[in-house]
Parts: sequence; C-alpha cells; structure tokens
Amino acid sequence: MLPSETFSNLLRGEAPLLALAPMQDVTTLEFMRVIDHYGGPEIYWTEYFRVHGDSRPEKWILDSITKNPTGKPVVAQLIGNDIPAMVRTAKLLQKFPVAAIDLNLGCPAPIVYRKCAGGGLLRDPEKIDAILSALREVVHVPFTVKTRIGFESPGEFAALLELFARHAIDLLTIHGRTVTQMYRPGVRYDLIAQAARQLPCPVLLNGNVFSAPQAKQLLVETGVRGLMIGRGAIRNPWLFEQIRTALRGEKVIFPTGRAVRAYIQELWDNEITPGIKESAQVQRMKKFMNFIGEGVASGFLHDIRRVTTTADFWRVCGQFLDHDRPMTLEPIDNGQAPLALPAAF
Ligand SMILES: Cc1cc2nc3c(=O)[nH]c(=O)nc-3n(C[C@H](O)[C@H](O)[C@H](O)COP(=O)(O)O)c2cc1C
Repeated sequence: MLPSETFSNLLRGEAPLLALAPMQDVTTLEFMRVIDHYGGPEIYWTEYFRVHGDSRPEKWILDSITKNPTGKPVVAQLIGNDIPAMVRTAKLLQKFPVAAIDLNLGCPAPIVYRKCAGGGLLRDPEKIDAILSALREVVHVPFTVKTRIGFESPGEFAALLELFARHAIDLLTIHGRTVTQMYRPGVRYDLIAQAARQLPCPVLLNGNVFSAPQAKQLLVETGVRGLMIGRGAIRNPWLFEQIRTALRGEKVIFPTGRAVRAYIQELWDNEITPGIKESAQVQRMKKFMNFIGEGVASGFLHDIRRVTTTADFWRVCGQFLDHDRPMTLEPIDNGQAPLALPAAF
C-alpha cells in the first residue's frame, strides 16, 4: 500500500491519531528511527522543505522520506510563498513516497515571517487563499495544513477557519498559539475544539502535550481527530506508547533513570557523524538535551548545558540518571511557561 493510502486510511479510521511534530534539525531520519524504537507515533512529518524560485528539495530531508526506517507514513512539509515554486516542488515531491503534502503556516521565526512565509502568511489571507487553490489543484496525495491561531490575535482565527473550510484540505493541524506569542503560555485548546466542531476535515491538536493523562483529557474535551507532539516526545519518547496505554484504560508505566540514560545513549549512537569533532558531537546532543533536561531536573539542565567534553557529558548523565526510580519526564515548569527554545522556534 502506498504511504498516501495508509495515511488516508488512518484519517478515515476511528482510533485517535498520534503524530510527531515537524522540528527543524531534530526530526531527521536518525531521530525518527530512535523514536520509533519506543513505539513512536502513527505518522511522521518532515521538517520543512524551503521553497523559493530556484530551490531544490534538501537531500537530508528527502532521505527522511525515501530511507525512512519506520515503515510509517511520512508527510512532506513545505514552507514558502512563491506559488510557481510551491507547485513545482509539490509535483516533484509526489514522485517520492510521501504520505501527504503539508503547508507550513506557523513558523514564528522573524527571518521567515518577515518574508511573509510560514506564520507570516497568516497576515495575508488572500495569499493563503491563492496558495491553497494552486496546491490543491496539483496535489493528488492528501493535502494538509499546519497553522497557528492567528498572527497577532486569536481574533483572527474565525476568518482563518472560514478560509480553510473553503478549500478541500484533508487535515488541519493547529498549534494553539499566535505567531507573535511564539511559545509563551496560554495554548488555546478551546479554539482548537471550535475548529474540530466547525471544519469538514479532521483536526490535529498541537501545543504543549506532555503526559498521557493530559493527552487523554485533551482528546476527550476537544473532540479532535488526534494529537501532534513535538518537544514532549523529545523529552519523553515513551509518550506515544503511554498515551495509547492510557486510552486503553491500562496503567501507564514510567521509565527509570537508567532507561532515560539508555535513550540518551541511543540518540548519541544515532547522531554520530563519523569523524565529527568531540565538541561538535556534544553540541549536537545539546539540541536534544535542552528538552530532555526539562524533564529530568533543573540542576541537570544547568550542568548539561555547560559540558564541552564527552567525559563530562556522560558524568553529568550518570550523576542524575544512574538510578531505578520511575520518571514522569514532565517539564519542570508544567509545560505552560516558555521552555528552552532555539531562537528560531
Ligand atoms: C526545534 C524545533 C523546530 C521546529 N521546526 C518546525 C518545522 O520545521 N515545521 C513546523 O511546522 N513546525 C516546527 N516547529 C514547531 C513544532 O512542530 C510544534 O508546532 C511546536 O513545537 C509546538 O508543539 P509542542 O509543544 O508539542 O512542541 C519546531 C519546533 C521546535 C521546538
């Protein structure tokens, strides 16, 4: 079965869908392999392909589709605003085993939104209208959109929903914050619930999902088709399996400190590029440790951010994780505060 058919079947099914959120520089082929080892989601998303006049799909992102080891559908995400280039790229990507083509309307990085791409497009509904029309015409696999609830104000959301409802998109993922809000507190799950009631297409909820009981509650209260999880899954790769366990009404099992250390080791082993300098390897791991650390302890986060050598990296991990106590891996400040984020996101 083609990945796009598997994806369509999943959308039509009954069970709540779980997806790994697209994360630039994180959701690589290697990371998907690691996450899948812990059960993983039903659907993966690539980080965004940057689309402009003379762009070509980035090879390493294409690899996460063509060489994907998980056997699960992978959605290809595009960011840009040049309609002929978006059409050309969407046509090209459909020659590969993509589950769907997804349009990014949420990236809050100023360098992106100032060019009126990603979240910046939310200021220009007419342009979104034109992009959706053009892409819908050439996308023959499912066509999906990932949006925020507005650029500056949640008051923009109602008009956006009308716009999305006018186009036959197959799925809308909603990160329940505005673009200018970045990652600050106050995810508007109520507006996501409104979208789920109002739109003809299925809706995925996104934003600060960090535990199985909370995920279960959000699914029940908002009536969405499923959840897309980003940082919560880096912190806790068991989360997807824990959510499925909770939905079956069974007792959720938490990993021990040693199991978390083994997860970090697995990341390390998968993220090693042969010949990479020690300091660069440690630096690469910090991309993940910034999030994992939030689920361990503030002292751990403090110390791991400062290490520069392999020996120190593992010494700090051993100091905080060499134990068999169960760990919830919930964010230290409950996930509503602005957590450690790279400048772009
Ligand atoms: C490091 C990082 C990179 C991201 N890259 C992308 C991206 O390429 N495309 C996208 O649509 N969203 C991107 N996002 C946003 C996430 O997909 C998601 O919407 C956001 O993190 C909120 O979900 P969460 O609270 O579950 O992490 C990124 C987020 C982070 C933290």
